[in-house]
Amino acid sequence: HAAEAQRTDLMTITRHVLNEQSRHPESRGDFTILLSHIVLGCKFVAAAVNKAGLAKLIGLAGETNVQGEEQKKLDVLSNEVFVKALVSSGRTCVLVSEENEEAIFVDPALRGKYCVCFDPLDGSSNIDCGVSIGTIFGIYMVKDKDNVTLEDVLQPGTNMLAAGYCMYGSSCTLVLSTGNGVNGFTLDPSLGEFILTHPNIKIPRKGKIYSVNEGNAKNWDGPTAKFVEKCKYPEDGSPPRSLRYIGSMVADVHRTLLYGGIFLYPADQKSPNGKLRVLYEVFPMSFLMEQAGGQAFTGKQRALELAPAKLHDRSPVFLGSYDDVEEIKALYASMS
Ligand code: AHG
Ligand code: MN
Ligand code: MN
Ligand code: MN
Repeated sequence: HAAEAQRTDLMTITRHVLNEQSRHPESRGDFTILLSHIVLGCKFVAAAVNKAGLAKLIGLAGETNVQGEEQKKLDVLSNEVFVKALVSSGRTCVLVSEENEEAIFVDPALRGKYCVCFDPLDGSSNIDCGVSIGTIFGIYMVKDKDNVTLEDVLQPGTNMLAAGYCMYGSSCTLVLSTGNGVNGFTLDPSLGEFILTHPNIKIPRKGKIYSVNEGNAKNWDGPTAKFVEKCKYPEDGSPPRSLRYIGSMVADVHRTLLYGGIFLYPADQKSPNGKLRVLYEVFPMSFLMEQAGGQAFTGKQRALELAPAKLHDRSPVFLGSYDDVEEIKALYASMS
């Protein structure tokens, strides 16, 4: 009967978070309500992604965003859905999105105590060819609800309360940490519920995969070039590592979290701060990696200790298996 009991004892993401929140006696369900609105946004985007090709949702929207990127229709649609879901939750007071140049300050009548930084659609270049894409989010507590400022979202990642991503791939998987480990949930489309499928994810201490856009090799600095060289031509006689690069951070990070290895988006001469944005790509993924027993490094410091000055600041990032990141830290220490 155990199997039968297991089948009907559905551990949904909402129930799982309620269980976790019961550890915080002061919590009054606000976080759970916020999360349920993020989950609603993810379900909407998952449905849109699944029918994107059919519903003419692929291709360009004809606009360019603050990053200077041509926005895809799905970039715009998912951004609108998440902004509306987060505002209507009544639990947020300021939002930062990749697709909005300025922060969104929620109408005081609808304000809550959480600040959310998010990338509504990560991996946009992969939309039209059907390769996995995702949504990334990070959550902070407001400092003073009656005086919400940009300081509430320009906080170091070490102040983050929670972070997660949703990957729209062969299945729709939501990976979340509220500061007490990392858990993965898979959408059961027949129920419309995210069910716990990957409890307490821990990243392997060492990996056999490196993940980087080798097309930027000409512009890399010494330590990055040396690290990648060692992956291909190990000096200790160990077998070369495999290269896996999907080009959607969510998919590359998800594989790294489950299989181990290291994901790199280094600085290069063209982009001295790398490409990935601190608030809604580097911080949430670094938070998750540390919570899963891995680590995240910028080439100079622990990624979560960055102090962002502007909303769309970028940073180089090396994240993944603990021992793999130690190797790159040693190279930066010895060669800088
Ligand atoms: P986004 O689609 O949200 O702008 O993010 C794209 C990012 C990230 O998903 C990925 O790791 C990186 O761009 C890939 O960049 P390259 O194509 O330069 O390798
Ligand atoms: Mn983009
Ligand atoms: Mn992105
Ligand atoms: Mn994006």
